[in-house]
Amino acid sequence: MKAIVIDAYKRPLRFAELQLPELGEHDVRVEIYAASLNPIDYKLRDGLLRLIQKYDFPLILGHDLAGIVTAIGSKVSKFSVGDEVYGRPRGSRIGTLAEYISVHEDDISLKPQNVSFEEAASIPLIGLTTFQAFTGVMALQKDQKILIHAGAGGIGTFAIQLAKAMGAYVATTTSENGYDLVKRLGADLIINYKQQPFENIIQDYDAVYDTLGGDVLKKSFTVLKPHGKLVSIAGLPGGNFAREAGLGPLKTALFSIVGRRMTALAAKNNVDYDYHYMKPSGLDLSSIKQLIEANQIKPVIDKIFDFQDTAKAFAYLETGRAKGKVVVSVK
Ligand SMILES: NC(=O)c1ccc[n+]([C@@H]2O[C@H](COP(=O)([O-])OP(=O)(O)OC[C@H]3O[C@@H](n4cnc5c(N)ncnc54)[C@H](OP(=O)(O)O)[C@@H]3O)[C@@H](O)[C@H]2O)c1
Repeated sequence: MKAIVIDAYKRPLRFAELQLPELGEHDVRVEIYAASLNPIDYKLRDGLLRLIQKYDFPLILGHDLAGIVTAIGSKVSKFSVGDEVYGRPRGSRIGTLAEYISVHEDDISLKPQNVSFEEAASIPLIGLTTFQAFTGVMALQKDQKILIHAGAGGIGTFAIQLAKAMGAYVATTTSENGYDLVKRLGADLIINYKQQPFENIIQDYDAVYDTLGGDVLKKSFTVLKPHGKLVSIAGLPGGNFAREAGLGPLKTALFSIVGRRMTALAAKNNVDYDYHYMKPSGLDLSSIKQLIEANQIKPVIDKIFDFQDTAKAFAYLETGRAKGKVVVSVK
């Protein structure tokens, strides 16, 4: 099968001809019709995930898939050959920029019936991250006010729609280039971050979803009401993350030191802070499928690239200006 691989960190992407992936007893083999890109793909290529996850080389890139099941392992109970599925494989078992992948059956769901393979492939990573953040650690409630940073990006376009579906009031930041898009997705208050500092406009919010880290994250502590919830997916992970991920005592100690600054800022501002890292989950993808089929969430695609143009798709995403998702049509 054809696949997009790297031979070492920071090396260029290349096409490789590889054997079909092995099929474990709980795995399904999926013929991939479409994959989507996320910033984690170029961060991984550059070796930025080294502390968190070990990978073997040559490494097939790509975290999101949509396709059709072509074979099932002996103990698979949830899927049959011919099922249309979408998902985000666990841990080091990524590699969706390929014609086939073997994926644990717990990591996928039937694909939403009312969308194309390209649209379905745009969802898993951004959908799981945001669904788990909003329904889990943030516990976003109806009528609460949430600030979503970078509303026009891959994460932001999903997050605005999910927050609206949950009945929240949504403020978001974007440049003028994303204004019409976030308005169409239902944002109630739109802040042009190039013209107005968000921290001068927003006060006493119930929640902030930080997708940018750095100064934006630090300033976000000041716009919350007492005990408001700040969830970052772009800041630095802390000790809790390292413990949950089973990274061992040394890395846990290291991440705890890194996380202390955020804990101190949270205490100073009397708010709750959490770093959130998504978990693969076919169950959560089934819930997201229902939201999509009920038209409460629509996939937002900026550009679709052909498989042979995957390197161009990476370059486009890396500009940091995508409006919605960047998708690669594999079949
Ligand atoms: N922890 C996790 O589990 C997890 C999961 C998924 C993603 N992430 C992280 O989340 C981050 C966002 O991912 P993404 O897929 O949304 O990225 P993306 O699609 O590449 O984001 C691009 C968007 O960001 C906007 N943007 C850039 N700077 C901005 C600013 N200062 N204020 C407001 N908007 C700004 C751009 O809008 P303009 O062109 O208008 O500036 C553009 O539309 C990445 O760092 C990614 O690694 C973490």
